[in-house]
Amino acid sequence: MTTDTPTTNVIGRPIDRVDGPLKVTGRATYAYEYAEGGKAAYGYILGAAITKGRIVAIDSSEAERSPGVLLVMTHRNAPPQADFGPPVTPAVPEVFTRARPVLAGDRVRYYDEPVAFVVAESFEAARAAAGLVRIRYKREDAPFDLRAGVENAYRPARANAGIPTDTAVGEFESAFAAAPVKLDASLTTPFEHHTPMEPHATLAVWSGDQLTLYTSAQTLANIQAGVANTLRIPPDRVRVVSRFIGGGFGSKLIAHPDAIFASLAARALNRPVKVALTRQQMFANAGHRATMLQRVRLGAGSDGRLAAIAHEVWSATARSEEFAEQTVAFTRSLYAAPNRITRHRLFPIDTHRGEWMRAPGEAPGMLASECAMDELAEKLDLDPIELRIRNEPDQDPERKVPFSTRNLVACMQEGAKRFGWEHRPAKPASRREGRTLIGYGMAAAIRGNYLGPSAARVSIDAKGQVTAQLDMTDIGTGTYTILTQIAAESLGVPMSRVRIELGDSRFPRTAGSGGSWGATSSGWALRNACDALKQKIADAVRASGTGSADDLASTVARIAPNGLSAEGTVTRGSEYQDYSQHGFGAHFAEVGVDCDTGEIRLRRMLGVFAAGRILNAKTARSQMIGGMVWGVGAALMEEGVMDPRFGHFVNHDLAEYHVAVNRDVPNVDAVFLDEHDDKANPFGAKGIGELGICGAAPAVANAVYNATGIRVRQFPITLDKLLPDLPVVSV
Ligand code: MOS
Repeated sequence: MTTDTPTTNVIGRPIDRVDGPLKVTGRATYAYEYAEGGKAAYGYILGAAITKGRIVAIDSSEAERSPGVLLVMTHRNAPPQADFGPPVTPAVPEVFTRARPVLAGDRVRYYDEPVAFVVAESFEAARAAAGLVRIRYKREDAPFDLRAGVENAYRPARANAGIPTDTAVGEFESAFAAAPVKLDASLTTPFEHHTPMEPHATLAVWSGDQLTLYTSAQTLANIQAGVANTLRIPPDRVRVVSRFIGGGFGSKLIAHPDAIFASLAARALNRPVKVALTRQQMFANAGHRATMLQRVRLGAGSDGRLAAIAHEVWSATARSEEFAEQTVAFTRSLYAAPNRITRHRLFPIDTHRGEWMRAPGEAPGMLASECAMDELAEKLDLDPIELRIRNEPDQDPERKVPFSTRNLVACMQEGAKRFGWEHRPAKPASRREGRTLIGYGMAAAIRGNYLGPSAARVSIDAKGQVTAQLDMTDIGTGTYTILTQIAAESLGVPMSRVRIELGDSRFPRTAGSGGSWGATSSGWALRNACDALKQKIADAVRASGTGSADDLASTVARIAPNGLSAEGTVTRGSEYQDYSQHGFGAHFAEVGVDCDTGEIRLRRMLGVFAAGRILNAKTARSQMIGGMVWGVGAALMEEGVMDPRFGHFVNHDLAEYHVAVNRDVPNVDAVFLDEHDDKANPFGAKGIGELGICGAAPAVANAVYNATGIRVRQFPITLDKLLPDLPVVSV
């Protein structure tokens, strides 16, 4: 559908991406492609060859003499920066903005931590010279042992986003003990890595005391503050530009070494400097999802009604900087039960910090809860959908406030109908096509709806051309497009008259792209800006004493030949507290498992979602399918393998770190139910960025169980874990 659409009911339409032509013709400029400020020099980061210890000697003389080299930076000559500070930050927002100095001392805190930095006339020259830096280390042991970690875990002060670590309602232990039907299941999930297509990359350009960073970021304000705090300069001296981003998945919410090194070196050399992390460096230096053990206990009556729910997690965290993924927080809102506990625990290891990754909390947490519900359904001889319906709460079970909207049951029922759930093999390992075992699985989806304070500016000129500016980013999700739709509909102009400008910290500040809040937060601010602009136009028309002209352009030309502009803002209102706000959904998967080799193939998958009003049916569907693909990867492939002796990720490239690719995801579809959440925002929309991955992995895992009768509790489910127990199938 082209952009010359009507000016009403634009929101919701399946509009093509407005930035699509720029991207497919190579005219969308990404961070490393910028050529601002003259001929750039190129940086290369040298990472530590040990996981933990000290640098006792470092010799960079040969590197300095290497052809084309302009600068070799080590901890001995690195420019002064702010201290890194304590491993736990006292206030939640500081996590995003704290100083992150590089080469701050002789200490090595994790494998591949930057220990030297070389700048040269070319990337190749810098990389070659980095290989000539000689370093002698004093190594300390950094063993990694999940079981020992769990035994020595501690309770953090809070989980991510300030969420309480523990909750308790009723008397879990006695209710669980008394329940006629019990399930107690533990499972592990591995380290996972974000692996966006575009690496972390920055071009830094100084002009006097003003720094401009062309970088790949989800949230500009965080990068601006993080770099400014590290360099000990005021944030308004740092401009961050990030107009196009090749994915982030949570790994571009804070400043990384590319931005800090580029800033320091560009200042030292008085010349623009470009720095990108290599794909391998991203595995150690750009966050990850930590490995964790989860335990779920469910106690039910013989009618399937839950009397007791416990969901606990023990997660690894970096010793140098704590990150407590809110893995079990969603369980507080998902199913009814009078007696319940949730707990987050951590154990330190020697890695780079964990970061927010693809639905932090729900993505790994729902693997545990939704596989447990599948197991309980079998014990009760109930259909998994029926079990969930019997435990549908009429209000938030822990907060005791109403849900703004909750259409989980409708999602499950609609999905069952469309998927043909009634054809599910009733008994595990009972259906075969040739030598392929066939299984169906389903799982629920829930994801919190968040809002971040945001602002927007919109202006109109005498020709009726509308320009909106926000420091919002489009990380590939379709933000340019939906904001164009929102401005067009709010102002009653065709989309072709609207230009959305994003990705510049000089524009009004938004909450950026993260936590699935981007579309609704920035969209609401933009709508408020458009309303303010309309009001200005109406006031000016009234003041001029003439009637309104027949179109907006001629009205503006008459009343304000130089154009008009207005700002809009949004902050959390009382609805945010007074209602439990979540998007919901249901996933259905069919897999085939080779009964000789254990090879698992997804055959088809369907997600049905209820997440308020959908702003663009096309980009929203793509977003959900993307999330479901990540769910397939989480169930079957993704695993950062840590060497237990040396504590580093062994498979740190995309040849050995497996993500789901085209061949792995045939026939995936996502549909939305009609919903309007009037508590969420004036559009009635909820965030959907991460909803697609929530529950996707357990639907696949439950399908593997249904196909084989084997319950694998160590994710990902790879064929070696099925092989010993595969049913013997005679021809
Ligand atoms: Mo998201 S993991 O908050 O970018």
